[in-house]
Amino acid sequence: MLTGGGDCPGLNAVIRAVARRSFTRGHEVVGIREGWRGLVDGKFEALGPREISGLLPRGGTILGTSRTNPFKLEGGTEAVLANFQRAEFDALVAIGGEDTLGVAAKLHAENDFPVVGVPKTIDNDLSGTDYTFGFDTAVWICTEAIDRLHTTAESHNRVMVVEVMGRHTGWIAVMSGIAGGADVIMIPEQPVSIDDACEEIRKRHERGKDFSIVVVSEGYELEGLNEASDLDEFGHVRLSERGVGARLASEIEERTGYETRVTVLGHVQRGGSPTPRDRVLATRFGLKAADLVNDRSFGRMAALHGDAVVDVSLEEATAELKTVPADWYDVARAFFG
Ligand code: F6P
Repeated sequence: MLTGGGDCPGLNAVIRAVARRSFTRGHEVVGIREGWRGLVDGKFEALGPREISGLLPRGGTILGTSRTNPFKLEGGTEAVLANFQRAEFDALVAIGGEDTLGVAAKLHAENDFPVVGVPKTIDNDLSGTDYTFGFDTAVWICTEAIDRLHTTAESHNRVMVVEVMGRHTGWIAVMSGIAGGADVIMIPEQPVSIDDACEEIRKRHERGKDFSIVVVSEGYELEGLNEASDLDEFGHVRLSERGVGARLASEIEERTGYETRVTVLGHVQRGGSPTPRDRVLATRFGLKAADLVNDRSFGRMAALHGDAVVDVSLEEATAELKTVPADWYDVARAFFG
């Protein structure tokens, strides 16, 4: 098993579930350290009942993680295949988002690599599954922050801009914004102009509501953002560096004259204990992954369709991002202003 990409609450619950089900079948379970890097470098550790005990409430990943892309390293793929064979592994469970699972899909397609996937990400942007675990916890954390910002915004008659993660999709912004009662939500998929956002805020203030909460996704496009520095091995810029929340706050203050502050929630959104919903989803995904391995159904990924855990092709699941559809945004928009 390996965990790759950004960590998220629920990874340890998957590890526990995969291991528990595999033990009952007499399989041995090995953890690979720090994502694909561990397979490139041959860094493994045996997982027994003691190692996987007490994991349900624990955030992060006991295996460590990285954003290593073996396809971008000289000899990386060869090292992965050689180390896997040398260790006499039979199957790999890759737990990750579009990048980690994209590598898994490619290894399977090109080398018939015996891998199954488990979808994780706070961003919920993976197609093939209705929800990824980690997302519910992130939304819960952001909603709590929005609730707290309401009381201080109201006391000071301020506009509060809250910048949330989500990369190029606005799932976290939309869901936490709906749950927290945001007055404007700005996401990459359904761009509302700054003028329109300011108009909504003005309307509120004219109605006697002297404070507003604006939730903005880190991936929202705005003129005048900072240049993000280096790309990671999967070609992503660090969106948080662009400062969209700060930029938006100063634009709102300038255009409306209302005092405005910004809160960037950052990695707090990924830390700590998973919600019960994420623990349960991660557990169900873990059991499904162990079953897929047992059936030798490689190239598949555990997925949630409605309330059922099913399996889908890894290739399809990583082919495109799952963006926020217009009807979800309409739910949020009904409460703007
Ligand atoms: O994909 C999860 C995520 O938290 C994104 O929402 C965010 O853009 C990115 O990872 C941050 O990455 P890092 O942990 O490398 O700063």
